Amino acid sequence: MAAPDHWTLLEVLRYRLGLTGSKQGCDKGDCGACTVLIEGRPVLSCLTLAARCQGLRVTTIEGLMPAHRAAGGEGADPVQEAFDRCGALQCGFCQPGMILSARALLNESPSPTREEIRAALAGNLCRCTGYTQIVQAVELCLAEAVGAEPPAPAWAPEANPWKTAPPKTRRPGAEKPERPERPERKGEG
Ligand code: FES
Repeated sequence: MAAPDHWTLLEVLRYRLGLTGSKQGCDKGDCGACTVLIEGRPVLSCLTLAARCQGLRVTTIEGLMPAHRAAGGEGADPVQEAFDRCGALQCGFCQPGMILSARALLNESPSPTREEIRAALAGNLCRCTGYTQIVQAVELCLAEAVGAEPPAPAWAPEANPWKTAPPKTRRPGAEKPERPERPERKGEG
């Protein structure tokens, strides 16, 4: 695909390929809204020359669910699902970059601490949520990946809502849950 030599990866994604999930926020490396994964590592696509990405595997937010399914999972990527369940967004502008940074962290580190989660997401600015639900979403995802009980959110310390909300997604390699038998209805047969 042809593009001017000076175009950034973000410009090619948005204006050549129509992949507008990667956001053009500050366009100078400050906000993290343009974060994509190159060979699994988070990079700022607004500071990356497209020409330098030839032959490399670039994952945008549009590609996260297909990658999860290609690996044998079901539904959306568990990080996307956890952000949804925790309400870890308001305007949504930072969300693609935030989710990709979180995904990269969880791929690299099986059990990051809260401080490590905050450090990994430090380059992704959110002007709406205050980050609490974002960190909770990563911790929820983390707990479910190892079958542990997710930590209760600060706003519901006793009635932990995550205990009773099973994920809609299935991790690659996890057993497919059995479907409950349908009760026989009168008059059937
Ligand atoms: Fe790339 Fe803000 S748009 S860091």
